[in-house]
Amino acid sequence: MPAPIAAMLASTSDKALSWFTAGATRAAAAMGPLLPAAVAAMLYGMGAHADGIHPASVSRGEVEAKISYCQDCHGPSGQGYRGYFPIPRLAGQQVAYIENQLQAFVEHRRTNNIMFNVAHGLSPAMISALAADFRKFDPGPLGGAPPRLVPLGRKILQDGIPESNIAACAACHGPDASGHEQIPRLAGQVYSYVVNKLTNWDKERGQIPSKPDISAVMNPVAHSLNKTQIEAVAAYVSTLK
Ligand code: HEC
Ligand code: HEC
Repeated sequence: MPAPIAAMLASTSDKALSWFTAGATRAAAAMGPLLPAAVAAMLYGMGAHADGIHPASVSRGEVEAKISYCQDCHGPSGQGYRGYFPIPRLAGQQVAYIENQLQAFVEHRRTNNIMFNVAHGLSPAMISALAADFRKFDPGPLGGAPPRLVPLGRKILQDGIPESNIAACAACHGPDASGHEQIPRLAGQVYSYVVNKLTNWDKERGQIPSKPDISAVMNPVAHSLNKTQIEAVAAYVSTLK
């Protein structure tokens, strides 16, 4: 595994990780040869975020001003927005995930012009403070997904699609889709945003070959899902609180 990834995903003895590690082991096994060895290793060793981000000097006033800027797009309680560009829910999101995504936008590992412009001026201390604040918001889901697809989506999340070699999403994202560390919460995520991400995965994530990141574990998953399956799983998670 490349050293930067090892550092980023430094292992931890946290017992809370055991359900996840067991699940990820199952998921990696289910994906078999589709999962590159280095990426499987990332999952087993996943844990505390050790890349040097620590809350440091940033005033409460500065954080609040910045949050209100984020709220212009992400909604007053971070619930997301269903517009021409779907804007994701940040409320209740995993702190390590938000931190990693903001860095990914800045480094162009994840491509999005809007969020590059937003994120490139943020200090590490500000990034940590914003992530910690959004974690605490708890609005209900935005809704708006086609209800008829929800039962199929529930089945995909819990059981995966064995005949297409797709692991259960729950193995990594958790049975309630609340995520863990760098694995995002999907619960309550905006339907059209999830559809958009799963449809465009390998055009947007992991865009710097010399800097492989954890987005690689989602490549085989996103590739193997067809349009109906994507819409179903997006519909289901968008209803979860
Ligand atoms: C001008 C609108 C706009 C503003 C302001 C904005 N964002 Fe975003 N943000 C977006 C859009 C659009 C996306 C979806 C990008 C994509 O489709 O990949 C996004 C995505 C994100 C993501 C990725 C979430 C995920 O689930 O992967 C994070 C994290 C994020 N924004 C944090 C912030 C923070 C923190 C702020 C304030 C400092 C902020 N954004 C301000 C429009 C905005
Ligand atoms: C082997 C573990 C694993 C499995 C199985 C898995 N995921 Fe993921 N997923 C991840 C990781 C890790 C990320 C974060 C990727 C990144 O940082 O770019 C992620 C990210 C996502 C995102 C992006 C969320 C956002 O806010 O942008 C979506 C959507 C998603 N997964 C859906 C699914 C669905 C649906 C399934 C099941 C069909 C699934 N995942 C199965 C590990 C997994």
